[in-house]
Amino acid sequence: MPGSPGSNQSISARLSELAQHLLPASHVAVLTGAGISQESGIPTFRGPEGLWRQYRPEELATPAAFRQNPRLVWEWYDWRRCLIADKSPNPAHYALVALEARIPEFTLITQNVDGLHKLAGSTRLSEIHGNIWQVRCLDCGRVGEDRRVPLPLLPYCPECGGLLRPNVVWFGEPLDVDILNQAQLALQQAQVMLVVGTSALVQPAASFAYWAQKAGALIAEFNLEPTPLTGQVDFSFLGMAGELLPQLVTATFGA
Ligand code: OAD
Repeated sequence: MPGSPGSNQSISARLSELAQHLLPASHVAVLTGAGISQESGIPTFRGPEGLWRQYRPEELATPAAFRQNPRLVWEWYDWRRCLIADKSPNPAHYALVALEARIPEFTLITQNVDGLHKLAGSTRLSEIHGNIWQVRCLDCGRVGEDRRVPLPLLPYCPECGGLLRPNVVWFGEPLDVDILNQAQLALQQAQVMLVVGTSALVQPAASFAYWAQKAGALIAEFNLEPTPLTGQVDFSFLGMAGELLPQLVTATFGA
C-alpha cells in the first residue's frame, strides 16, 4: 500500500499523493471524532486524560441513568459544557472549512458534540451524536439552544416546564434516521473519504469508512496512533490533525 505509514515515503510525499486524488474529486466525505478537538484543549474520550476515565459511561450517558439520577447526568454534561465553553476551533477545523469551500459535494460527518466545526464555519455538517449546546424537553419535545454556563440544575423547559435533557445521542439510543440516511448517501457517493481523530470503536460511525470503501472511495486516516481501521485504509497519517490537515489543503490547492 503506497500510502501506508510503514512505507519509506515522507509524510509530505504521501500528502502530495493523496492531494492528487483529492484535487479532482467532486464528492468528498469526512468523519471526525474527539481527536480533532484535542488541540483545542478538549480531552478525548479514550485518551490518557479521557473524558470517560473517572466515570463509567453507562452511569452517565444512557436514558436509564438519566431516569435514575438526572442531576448526576446533568452535572457531568454541565462540567463538559463549562470545559468547552471557552475553547476555539483549531487549524484542523479550519482546514475542513477550506476543503468545503473548494469541493463541490463535501459532507462533514462528526461524532463530536462540542460545536467547534460550526464555530469554525463548516456548513455541510452532520452532527450525528447531537450538540451539547442544545437541550430537549422530555415532555413537549421542544429542542432549543441554551449556552448558559453553568446551567441552573436541573434545567426545565421554558415552554411547558418539563425536564430538559442534553440533545445528544446516548448509549443504547439510535441515531436520527434522516441524519443517518444523509450520511449514508454522502458515503456512498464519496470518491475520497478522510477519517480524522476517531478511535473507530463506536458504531455505527466505526463502520462508515467501510461503507465508503465498499462503494469505491479511497480512504485516508489521520490519527495520533493506529486504530482498527489503519490496516484497511489507503493512506494512514500518524500525527496531529492540526498540522496534517492544513498541510493537505496546501498540497491540494496551494497556499
Ligand atoms: P476517542 O476518544 O475514542 O478517540 C479519539 C481519537 O483521536 C484517538 O484514536 C486518538 O488517538 C486520536 N487523537 C487524539 N488527539 C489527536 C490529534 N491531535 N490529532 C489526530 N488524532 C488525535 O473519541 P471518538 O472516536 O470520537 O459518543 O469517540 C467516539 C464516541 O465515543 C464519541 O462520539 C462519544 C464516545 O462515547 C457518544 O457520546 C455517543
